[in-house]
Amino acid sequence: MSIPRLILDVDTGHDDAVAIMMAAHNPAIDLCAITVTAGNQTLDKTLLNTLHVCSALSIDVPVYAGMSRPLLSPLVTASKIHGESGLDGPVFPPCNKKEEKEHAVVFLVNTIMEHPAKQFTLVATGPLTNIAMALRLEPSIAHKIARLLIMGGSMTQGNVTAQAEFNIHADPEAASIVFDSGIMPVMVGLDVTRSLVLTRERLDLLSQIKGPAASIFSASMEHYMAACLQYIGESPAMHDPLCVALAADPSLCQTKKYFVGVECSGALTRGRTVVDLSGVSQKAPNAEVALTIDEKRFWAMLEATLQRY
Ligand code: BDR
Ligand code: CA
Repeated sequence: MSIPRLILDVDTGHDDAVAIMMAAHNPAIDLCAITVTAGNQTLDKTLLNTLHVCSALSIDVPVYAGMSRPLLSPLVTASKIHGESGLDGPVFPPCNKKEEKEHAVVFLVNTIMEHPAKQFTLVATGPLTNIAMALRLEPSIAHKIARLLIMGGSMTQGNVTAQAEFNIHADPEAASIVFDSGIMPVMVGLDVTRSLVLTRERLDLLSQIKGPAASIFSASMEHYMAACLQYIGESPAMHDPLCVALAADPSLCQTKKYFVGVECSGALTRGRTVVDLSGVSQKAPNAEVALTIDEKRFWAMLEATLQRY
């Protein structure tokens, strides 16, 4: 298998920052660009966090600012978990990186259209607003993308409401456009990401690694862990990094194709990904859902990431 040319779409909070570390300087990934959306915090903050991570770790790829709010609903952030800055914890040196002038959505459309089909893999670790806008601007990109991996959704319970996961809940209309587009995305949902729990012991071990990525990781995960324990009563999960890890190594998760609908109107279920496990709807599968994960290999990849810098 050839090395994926990757465009990473982020809303940089704590686990997005780790996803960026994992995608960059990785011999199994050719990271071409980063696009940013609002999500964990407002766009100005998620953009600044992205630029800080790239600047501090000499990640020399273009960064594009995208959508500052969801398609229809008002912006809801995850500031309780990710803090006022969206990446509370680490103290960054002065930032020496600037965003590109082009809008992220225009960049996505132009880049995908200007290249032969199936050149780019997209990994989305935030709300799907940028990708949905790109699909509306140029629907034919759906057939030109090699692969789209989405951190989002759940087959069972949610993490922001009883039924909905944050990235889908933040912009359900965008998610619905993406699942209906014909791309056949890989849904890397809470079903798999929640098993990647960063325990106290694991954080202490990883914090012993030397280097700039490990020290950003350690400072940011201390905040992330404290906030997750305070507000959701459990240690944090490595949601976004799994999506990048799976782009690098598709054998890390077992997946199965299902029809996945996004609930956009339910009073209690808005933002839920409804996975037709039994096929009762008789609708053709539109997504590949991650079902299992080789946890040991994931943690080894994370350790190797921190050691690389
Ligand atoms: C997702 O929500 C965000 O807060 C995280 O960055 C992750 O992308 C997990 O539900
Ligand atoms: Ca995210």
